[in-house]
Amino acid sequence: MITLRQAYNELENLLKNSGISDYKSEAKIIFYHCFEIDYEYIILNGDKIFSEDKFEKIVEIAEKRKSKIPLQYILGLCEFMGEIFFVGEGVLVPREDTSVLVNESYNILKHKNNLKIVDLCSGSGCIAITLKKMFGDKADVYGIEISDKAYYYFRKNVTSKHSDIKTLKADIFEIYKNFDDNSFDAIISNPPYIKEEDIGKLQKEVLLEPKIALNGGEDGLEYYRKICLNWYSKIKKRGIIAFEIGFEQNDFVKSILEENGFENIKLFNDINNIPRVIIGEKI
Ligand SMILES: C[S@@+](CC[C@H](N)C(=O)[O-])C[C@H]1O[C@@H](n2cnc3c(N)ncnc32)[C@H](O)[C@@H]1O
Repeated sequence: MITLRQAYNELENLLKNSGISDYKSEAKIIFYHCFEIDYEYIILNGDKIFSEDKFEKIVEIAEKRKSKIPLQYILGLCEFMGEIFFVGEGVLVPREDTSVLVNESYNILKHKNNLKIVDLCSGSGCIAITLKKMFGDKADVYGIEISDKAYYYFRKNVTSKHSDIKTLKADIFEIYKNFDDNSFDAIISNPPYIKEEDIGKLQKEVLLEPKIALNGGEDGLEYYRKICLNWYSKIKKRGIIAFEIGFEQNDFVKSILEENGFENIKLFNDINNIPRVIIGEKI
């Protein structure tokens, strides 16, 4: 027989011994998402009996974490800007940093009406769905994603949230031809931006995420170049392009935006004070 407190402590130990640095918060997340038991309840009811079935489930999850499968894939969900999104193998787990892209894009656009926005490289749909929620009827939002697996989660999130956005499973470097020039008020994107040669050096958890979501080509900047080139004419006058960028990419992406005719270029930092988002305007 095992108590709730013993089960919780055992999970913490298993995660700690597997080298999970954030083992305390992961243990809390697992208890909450699997059994709807929060930490306060554990403190107050630690002597209660914990069933063997539930304990087996904990051990199973800890085993998977030992092989560095991201916790979000094991649980099948993650949190982004206060909302729960479905995720799993084949789709990038939304990162906290991406909220900077969503918030800064929203701040720049919020005074306009009848907006038409496209999110390129949508993945789970976290950007497109959150922007639609923020703008409501003020914006028509499109999301484009090429990967079958990612698109599956994108659709699942759209459906479960009853989000009124238009999703397209397509290659952004082909589908742009289907849109008229001067169509969009904003092009928003968190594209793959890791240098090809750096991919092997990533944390094991990240390596289990899809390469197509990470690989930004030889210098990591391929998507910025091609998106600017292909999509510039699709943006309306006074419309914007907004990108999430990787570490120390700000100067390079700024030059790409300038070379492609964007002006009023602004950078925005993440919570670690690192430039994370770049926004340019088509004058
Ligand atoms: C860095 S992830 C971003 C996912 C999501 N927007 C987010 O912020 O969590 C990049 C996404 O681009 C998709 N992708 C890569 N190449 C693409 C292409 N040519 N056309 C459409 N989507 C593409 C990948 O499958 C992946 O889901």
